Amino acid sequence: MHIPITSQPEYGNLVNFSGNMNLPIHSWFNLKEGYSSKLVSDLMSELKIKEGKVFDPFSGCGTTLLTAKEKGINFLGFEVNPFLYTLTKTKIATYDSSSIQKIYKYKSIIKNRSSKVQKVQRVGLSIADKVFGSQLDSILRYRQVILGIRDEKIRNFYLIAFLSVLERCGFAKKDGNGLRYPPRKKPEQFITAFSNKVEQMLEDIVDGQVADSNNKVVFGDCRNIASDFLEEHKNSAALSVFSPPYLNCFDYTEIYKVELWFGGFVNAYSDLKNIRNSSLTSHLNKEIVPEKGMQMIQKYITAIRHQDIWSPKIPDMVDSYFSDMQKVLRNVHKVLKKGGHCVIIVGNSAYGRVVIPTDEILAVIGESMGFKCIKLDVARKLNTSPQQQKKITNSEKLRESLVYLQKC
Ligand SMILES: C[S@@+](CC[C@H](N)C(=O)[O-])C[C@H]1O[C@@H](n2cnc3c(N)ncnc32)[C@H](O)[C@@H]1O
Repeated sequence: MHIPITSQPEYGNLVNFSGNMNLPIHSWFNLKEGYSSKLVSDLMSELKIKEGKVFDPFSGCGTTLLTAKEKGINFLGFEVNPFLYTLTKTKIATYDSSSIQKIYKYKSIIKNRSSKVQKVQRVGLSIADKVFGSQLDSILRYRQVILGIRDEKIRNFYLIAFLSVLERCGFAKKDGNGLRYPPRKKPEQFITAFSNKVEQMLEDIVDGQVADSNNKVVFGDCRNIASDFLEEHKNSAALSVFSPPYLNCFDYTEIYKVELWFGGFVNAYSDLKNIRNSSLTSHLNKEIVPEKGMQMIQKYITAIRHQDIWSPKIPDMVDSYFSDMQKVLRNVHKVLKKGGHCVIIVGNSAYGRVVIPTDEILAVIGESMGFKCIKLDVARKLNTSPQQQKKITNSEKLRESLVYLQKC
């Protein structure tokens, strides 16, 4: 199979989230692993998508879905992390004048009630004190009041405002696969940061749109979509744009653990474990059942087994990752119409000297199930340490790319 590979450096700045930080609603939470709304709208123009549905099986913070909504195109998404699911749901929600009025009213209610909380409930996250120090008490008071709001739309609006300022107000910083404590980090004052965030979010919501209950994000695992759901949505989407977790051992439940605990999505370590186990096999913090998956992956697995790798679970993770992606692509294929496009934004990875060309492998898997691979656009090269760079023979394959598939 021949895959046309072209370099598209203009996508280099769009495969990250920074462009979204100047946009209404998109900027509500900075998802470092996300991509820009402009990338989605450029793809819609390039592929001439003016109607039909847009599908994102890994919705993250909802960039694909929100961009479709802004363009008046129907959308459907899946997300397995309850914090990111709620974030997407809140960003794509429709706010009418009555809900906007209620949201305004709650600004002062939250402030007043939080000072009157009698018994402050703690969270079970072991690092809570270390992360928030003396601000922990006021953060917990606001949390308690917000989680007690009965109206889901209002609660979610304030919960997202609350969660989106936590990183700025603490001593910890998200860094790669977890948290770091930079010695010079100065936490912002929580009450001011929260109040400013609420003002910013209120400026972004406008009245007047009509809600469509078919346009939604579903809380669930996109590898295992119920057959009646697939039946209902089959052959309906014109485009699927998504970015799966990369094969780089990043665990989203670890990166977003503060938001998961403080948002009340997780109340015990066993809850975290459950989310990990229902997420794609792209990290080592979950139970990985060894399987001898696809034949074409085996040469990479064998090569990795001969490397000096930091965990013996890595070969099984690689194997399961592609078996999982096969399940996802099968579901995407079902949801797309004939002729519908699928664009996967993905980065390759290296273990020892071995580069795993995830982009090319996904193209081959796609072809095996009824897609045609149109092209592979390389957006940018990925960095690795100079020592590793020297060891890797095909380091040009360490890249972030867009894989274009079309349903035959
Ligand atoms: C790279 S992020 C997506 C970023 C997103 N495109 C954006 O710009 O916001 C991958 C997402 O996939 C989610 N995820 C992982 N496994 C999943 C699964 N089995 N089903 C649905 N979502 C999953 C993760 O929680 C994470 O939010």
